[in-house]
Amino acid sequence: MGIDSSQSRVGKQSVEMYLVGGAVRDKLLGLPVKDRDWVVVGATVEDMLEMGFQPVPGVFPVFIHPQTGEEYALARRETKTGPGYHGFSVETGPDVTLEQDLARRDLTINAMAEDERGTIIDPFGGRKDLQRRLLRHVTPAFAEDPVRLLRIARFSARFSSLGFHVAHETHGVMKEMAAAGELAHLQGQRIWQEMARALMEAQPWRFFQVLHACGALGRLFPVLASALPDSPGDENPEEDGEPIAVLKRAVTGKASLALRFVCIMQYAVDAGHPASQLTAWLAVEKKTATLFENWLLARPLLLDLPKGNARAYRQYLQRFRHCLPQLGQLAQICMPHLAEQLSPLLEQARAAMLSVDVAELQEQGLQGRFLGEELRRRQEQAIASVLRGSGEN
Ligand code: CTP
Repeated sequence: MGIDSSQSRVGKQSVEMYLVGGAVRDKLLGLPVKDRDWVVVGATVEDMLEMGFQPVPGVFPVFIHPQTGEEYALARRETKTGPGYHGFSVETGPDVTLEQDLARRDLTINAMAEDERGTIIDPFGGRKDLQRRLLRHVTPAFAEDPVRLLRIARFSARFSSLGFHVAHETHGVMKEMAAAGELAHLQGQRIWQEMARALMEAQPWRFFQVLHACGALGRLFPVLASALPDSPGDENPEEDGEPIAVLKRAVTGKASLALRFVCIMQYAVDAGHPASQLTAWLAVEKKTATLFENWLLARPLLLDLPKGNARAYRQYLQRFRHCLPQLGQLAQICMPHLAEQLSPLLEQARAAMLSVDVAELQEQGLQGRFLGEELRRRQEQAIASVLRGSGEN
């Protein structure tokens, strides 16, 4: 069945459908709209089913439009029932108004709707905040959802390049949320979801700076927070601190998500906060976790290589043979001066190592341990001649 109008009549009441959230915001900013979310006012669940919408299992009261596949949610109203994070209930029903639904949203720029004539409904000054480039919370209910701390940090990563910043009063609410330990309610996986999106935005370092400025980063990643200056040097990149400078280089180098994760999170670990614990808590993908651990092992070896002999080069190349290109990229980003010197040498040493012909040794009758030892000896010899040629050793 077709649902061809944003105003439908079901039974006696009139149902209204509005485009909401990020789609309205992005349209007003002149940005491409990716997902379109809709709010339905004046309808019941039965009305939605009668119109042919498909319920999304487990995500009440959200439905999928049978033709467009877009999400339509019944308008919701939040009512405070007690103190704290879970101290509110969400109601839905044909009497919930559009304004009540917009009031429960996080930021004013996300709390606008557009009707079918293209009229913007903006009860909280979202349009003005778009012009003023302000990320401002809608109501004190902002503080009831700790994910919103991460979301505003993520929106900063996305929109800072357009001049957006966190409103003063919102920063105050964020500080209170961080101090109250609101983030402790979140699972690592949820944190990673937001962080992963932030890392691929235009200025991912803003995500960490905004969380740091309100005190939340210290709760999440204390070691990383202690490596950042208290107030970021907006005008002076010299004052960014090493983790931010590295992340900026990762963005300039168009590094992948896995690489960006390693670039910043290498500063979040120490003996008390081991890498495996961090990646397990965040539930990052296995290959990212493996790259992270390999980088942390490779980093001190790379720093020592300029003093190292052919054996050290061979050991490095052998041990990390499965991820050499990625480690090379990380070295370029994290220790560019050293990488400039080391990368061509490592490449030549690897080629020299591979030029040793195992089959030839086997033909000479070498097997097992003897084959292994002779192979290693010849590989080291080949690498040594590369190092001598370069004047390294
Ligand atoms: N929203 C909220 N609080 C949350 C999550 C979502 O208030 N914790 C509201 C916001 O109004 C948001 C809308 O739900 O605009 C849709 O959420 P989502 O699709 O996650 O985000 P978008 O704002 O559309 O942003 P993005 O472009 O990143 O998808």
